[in-house]
Amino acid sequence: MSASNKQEWGTRLGVILAVAGSAVGLGNFLRFPGNAAQNGGGAFLIPYFVALLLLGIPIGWAEWTMGRYGGRKGFHSAPAIMGVVGRGGVSRYLGVTGVVIPLVVYFYYVLIEAWCLCYAWNFAQGGIGINEGAVQSQVDGSKQFFGEITGSAFDGFMADGTLHQSVVFWVITFGINIWFVYRGLSKGIEAFCRYAIPCMAVFAVIVLIRVLTLGTPDPTHPDQSVEAGLNFMWNPDFKALGNFQTWLAAAGQIFFSLSVGFGVIINYASYCRRKDDIVLSGLTATATNEFFEVALGGMITLTAAVAFMGLTLTQANTGGTFSTGFFALPVVFAHMPGGNFFGAIWFFMLFLAAITSSLSMLQPAKAFFEEALGVGTKTATTIVALITLFGNVFVLWFSKDLIAMDTIDFWVGTFLIFVMAGVQIIAFGWVFGIDRGWKEAHVGARIRIPGIYRFIIKYVSPVFLLVVFVGFIFQNLPDKTGDDGVVTLGWISKIADSRTMQLSLGLVTLVILFLIIVTAIGARRWAREGRDLNGEREPDDIQPSSSTTEPRT
Ligand code: ALA
Repeated sequence: MSASNKQEWGTRLGVILAVAGSAVGLGNFLRFPGNAAQNGGGAFLIPYFVALLLLGIPIGWAEWTMGRYGGRKGFHSAPAIMGVVGRGGVSRYLGVTGVVIPLVVYFYYVLIEAWCLCYAWNFAQGGIGINEGAVQSQVDGSKQFFGEITGSAFDGFMADGTLHQSVVFWVITFGINIWFVYRGLSKGIEAFCRYAIPCMAVFAVIVLIRVLTLGTPDPTHPDQSVEAGLNFMWNPDFKALGNFQTWLAAAGQIFFSLSVGFGVIINYASYCRRKDDIVLSGLTATATNEFFEVALGGMITLTAAVAFMGLTLTQANTGGTFSTGFFALPVVFAHMPGGNFFGAIWFFMLFLAAITSSLSMLQPAKAFFEEALGVGTKTATTIVALITLFGNVFVLWFSKDLIAMDTIDFWVGTFLIFVMAGVQIIAFGWVFGIDRGWKEAHVGARIRIPGIYRFIIKYVSPVFLLVVFVGFIFQNLPDKTGDDGVVTLGWISKIADSRTMQLSLGLVTLVILFLIIVTAIGARRWAREGRDLNGEREPDDIQPSSSTTEPRT
């Protein structure tokens, strides 16, 4: 890597905010309430917290540790770092997953981010035109507006001769992302997160207070109240623990939400210095994410929906990733005094949350091209911009029923994340070695990880992950016949029937192949530079240079 590419975080708080910024995103405010609603509200929370303790936190620590370790060797991308940690080419090529995931998730994530900006703008201009009528017709109006914004009626909506507002907002959003990533780690991502996260917290708390003070908005419907909403969200249902689907949804949610197994933390941690604390930083970023997810994402959306729409309508309209945020909440805002104001700040808050996450999806790829191809920031940013431009246009074009988006979200945003998380925990616990990993994690640490986590990292997390992964495959890939004889198509049949799905997977495969080729080029470069530790046991006692020994405050 050329010296001009050397980057690091400005402050310790900066890295925590950047990781928290990556974690807090649409997953917290759209996916979490959607998942909770679909899996019985409070019933979802027990598997969710179990997955947090047994998967999210330990795999997160493993990622932080491997990332900082790789950074000490001058590497910042998952393929290079996994090559060092896993001592070999197999790990290196499996590490490609850590570039594929953030890059490809960005293909669709940034479009949703742009919708949020578009909604914020529309609310600031007086709402989305659903202020009158019965609740169900408002929900229908809300769905219609969503359909117009996303072009879900047919493919290629943006080429029908009209300049669609969602396309305008996408261009703006795309430009902002590329600009901040180009500015670099400290001046771009860190600086943006330093302002965006406090702003998000203030905006979300304003909306939370508004929601919690709604009481029973319509006295003729005493069952539609804030209390009923909180009950739905928070009353645990132990019977649901026997439902495997709930466990799968919980594990998937934890990974997506924490950006663990995503390829982001390993990259961000690689810019830490040798003695920067990572144990407490990892935990702080996780706690911040959970505050936004559970306390804000979980308390606002479903509570408000139940208070205004009642439990039945809420459950009918909040089951999917987008339903809660884009169908139900606009109806809530339409009923609320000052609803347009609250709608505008809510969707702007979502936009900020999304942008701190999407920036983190570009940085791993940028770092990868820099170190694999030996190019500078400008060239690497241009390559990333071109790939993501192509990916965005693809998802924008294949907008019908959001099939391309769903396909990529499933295969990359869920399936590949399970794979990457598995690769990381095995590499850390078994190849790098738990003893060595434990020691490495605690260098500069301000707290100690409870000893039980040695056992969890080595045995429990991999087994739990394997069970969840196998269950996930059986649950989602083959067709299933319900007790009522109704057949639900699995992904294998759905792909066989859908050209858009085939094209989407073709695109993902192309990106993977391209990144594998770049990794092969990088591997030769690293070998020439004598940084290829392939197959060797790298000595533990390499002394860091003096510039990297001081911990940050
Ligand atoms: N962790 C990010 C989110 O939750 C990707 O949206």
